Amino acid sequence: MQHSKNSSVSVNSRFIKPCTFEEDDQPLPPYNYLIFGGYGDLAQRKIFPAMFHIFSSGIMPDSFTITGIGRRDFTGESYRQFIRNAVLSFCENKPDTAVLDKFITHVSYHCMKLTEAEDYSGLKKLLKTFSTDTKIIFYLAVPPDLSPQIISSIGQSGIASEHPESRIIIEKPFGEDKTSAIRLNNLLSEYFPENRIYRMDHYLGKETVQNIIFFRFANSIFEPIWNYKHIDSIQITAAETLGIEHRGEFYEKQGIIRDIIQNHMMQLISLIAMEAPAGFEADSIRNEKLKILKAIRPVTEDDLQYFTVGQYDSGTVDGTDVCSYRKEKNVSENSNTPTFVSGRFFIDTWRWAGVPFYFRAGKRLKKRATEIAVQFHQPPLKMFGRSCDAMQPNLLVFKIQPEEEIILKIGIKEPGKGDKIFISEMKFSYRDTFKSAIRPSYERQIIDSIYGDLTLFARQDSIEAMWDIVDPVIKYFQESTQNNFPNYKAGSWGPEESLNIFRDENQKWHTE
Ligand code: BG6
Repeated sequence: MQHSKNSSVSVNSRFIKPCTFEEDDQPLPPYNYLIFGGYGDLAQRKIFPAMFHIFSSGIMPDSFTITGIGRRDFTGESYRQFIRNAVLSFCENKPDTAVLDKFITHVSYHCMKLTEAEDYSGLKKLLKTFSTDTKIIFYLAVPPDLSPQIISSIGQSGIASEHPESRIIIEKPFGEDKTSAIRLNNLLSEYFPENRIYRMDHYLGKETVQNIIFFRFANSIFEPIWNYKHIDSIQITAAETLGIEHRGEFYEKQGIIRDIIQNHMMQLISLIAMEAPAGFEADSIRNEKLKILKAIRPVTEDDLQYFTVGQYDSGTVDGTDVCSYRKEKNVSENSNTPTFVSGRFFIDTWRWAGVPFYFRAGKRLKKRATEIAVQFHQPPLKMFGRSCDAMQPNLLVFKIQPEEEIILKIGIKEPGKGDKIFISEMKFSYRDTFKSAIRPSYERQIIDSIYGDLTLFARQDSIEAMWDIVDPVIKYFQESTQNNFPNYKAGSWGPEESLNIFRDENQKWHTE
């Protein structure tokens, strides 16, 4: 994660090696960003607002261009107007219109059919007009079935070889199983080496996700107890109130396991469980994460009794009535696609022996909450008389969204003459501490793609390891005839059966 100039910090302790640090907010090098799918949802809602936010922070170079690419017939002027509106609609903070007007002068449009190989000669000509000392970055913000065609055309037209330093950003899903992920990668690597492939998992750009490793390795008090001797279990919840929006066709092929577990959930598990990296460079961190993914115990049929899948029925979410999944547009009325899953993994390493990693993810749940709860063991002796029953294990909760907080729950004595235990919270809140400093996801990864820092992007070997874990689970539930879908009401916490996961122990989901 080092972007810029290195400065030596002198330290005396023989235990602390001198380190290099990055100056924040260094100007970015000149670049040209080419966004395939330039007027799609992702470009409008995430990429352009993030780009504008970076521009407003003053670190954009004088020389940069952003070109939207697509088949719609925009003129340069009408595209700029379209992007201006997108930024106005989707930026979290109200944009300064004078700054927006300046930003928009760097934006242009290139009209072509993304699936027509011949159209890439026009793109090739366009690229020749860019100054040779600027970086070229292709961003594939397109539906997954278009990516192979675009990659092949960039390669076969000679664009990739004429710009040997160019980079490519590709969005998840990376294939639909291990075999197709390898196929996609083989295609990519015909034209781009691994160190120029940026596989985007936007969870890695969330501040609180990045903070997991800072919190773990910048504080010496937690690491000694970060293991099976002190930790009872870990729970990860990724709950959404949103349904599938207008993505019925896409979601029917995905389902929750491909959409969330194979990527975002696996990233969270590997960050919470990994060993300390030897350094802070991309590969040191990515190597440690990979070791965890490879150590996740393969899920057997026996383990699958601890898994539950679900699909939402109609219900009420945040006070609004919503339809069932099967009534969503472009969804089959007999669909067996899961919109909820819960289960548990074990990581077969010395550190995590016997510690369950419980997880659940779902659409149209009761509230939006992504959280990791680390539950420590109970004290060995119950010595507080009647209030023993109220005793709860210590919990360390990483709240990733919508609140961005870290909370340590501790038991203390309630004032008075009784021996009552009160559960109190020590809390760190990003919002209170840093006010406006939180960057939306995408922003950090866009900056890193321009600097050339791969730390917050997925590597191919980890993608394959993730598919190794989820492929058998997906296959099992796809072939299962026992799905009684729909089996949970929109606005609930998912199917009742998902509580079976705790049948062997006195546990509950901590996020509620
Ligand atoms: C995407 C999924 O990767 O993540 C969506 O495709 C999901 O289905 C989204 O809604 C959740 O992202 P976030 O940042 O809102 O948690």
